Amino acid sequence: MSTEGVAHGKVILFGEHAVVYGIPAIAVGIDRGARAKAVALESGPSTLRVADWNLCVREDDPETPLARAFGDLLRVTRDAGVAVSAVSVEAAADLPPGGGLGCSAALGVAVARALDPEAPAEVIAERAGAWEAVFHGNASGVDAAVASLGGCVLFERGAPVGSTITRIRAPGVVHLCIGNSGQASSTRSMVESVARLRERRPETTQKAFDAIHTLVKNARLAIEAADRRAVGQLLDLNQMLLSGLFVSTPDIEQMCSTARAAGALGAKLTGAGGGGCVVALVDHPEVGAKVLSAWKSDGFDGFLTSFGAPDLGRRTSTLMESAP
Ligand code: MEV
Repeated sequence: MSTEGVAHGKVILFGEHAVVYGIPAIAVGIDRGARAKAVALESGPSTLRVADWNLCVREDDPETPLARAFGDLLRVTRDAGVAVSAVSVEAAADLPPGGGLGCSAALGVAVARALDPEAPAEVIAERAGAWEAVFHGNASGVDAAVASLGGCVLFERGAPVGSTITRIRAPGVVHLCIGNSGQASSTRSMVESVARLRERRPETTQKAFDAIHTLVKNARLAIEAADRRAVGQLLDLNQMLLSGLFVSTPDIEQMCSTARAAGALGAKLTGAGGGGCVVALVDHPEVGAKVLSAWKSDGFDGFLTSFGAPDLGRRTSTLMESAP
């Protein structure tokens, strides 16, 4: 017998890093993500294979982070009373590892779901937290929450568990360009570098977090009001604040400037920074194509994605106009 699980990749629009310290963040689940298939074995130990990474690990192997993450995920699933015997799990992700798009969380969520397909999304996100803790140390949980729930959410870290997740309704489709700097980065070390900065300069860091908090509140209102220009300006402001936390890079700065010059309404790094991806907001897919082609000329790959409800009001009026 086999069971399957899927998960979203994610783009953090506002609030990365500050979210680790309790500031809310706004993030969006994207179509690209991860999938996993679990097949029951006659006897253990359970194994996990990620073919793309050329890795196959056993649950009882303490040597590799992937094995520890898998072992911890199995443990929390069994501790919750789910009868998972020995399984062989195959998992794959179509996200760049270390790219800021939540590759590890998507894999964790997909595996958690393959182990217990009936569990609610919030429960899966919490279990995947055990997997994320191995890779990212002090993870806020935002990546796993969005990987599991999808859509656009306002996430606020709970202490120590029980995060608050509120869905944000975006009227109309919001188009995003995602560009990859091609430089993989470690979320764990970027989070640690912000923690060190916070120790060295507590007041300046707190001021940056407070400013991000204000910006997140305004961004939520702007998304709900479909005020794309305001959302774009807030993305730019968030990027400035992230640069002040020393998590941006020259390539990220260049990609943000290139996107703005090609017509984007705003752009910033997404995820932990130190490399990884940039997100740029455009008001139309045609502008998105211009941004992607400008990035391509600079040597950076990218793709278009979107979120939000289709604009039913406008569609209805188009239908009415073309009605006889
Ligand atoms: C990583 O995608 C987002 C960070 O805020 C870390 C976290 O929230 O766990 C940098």
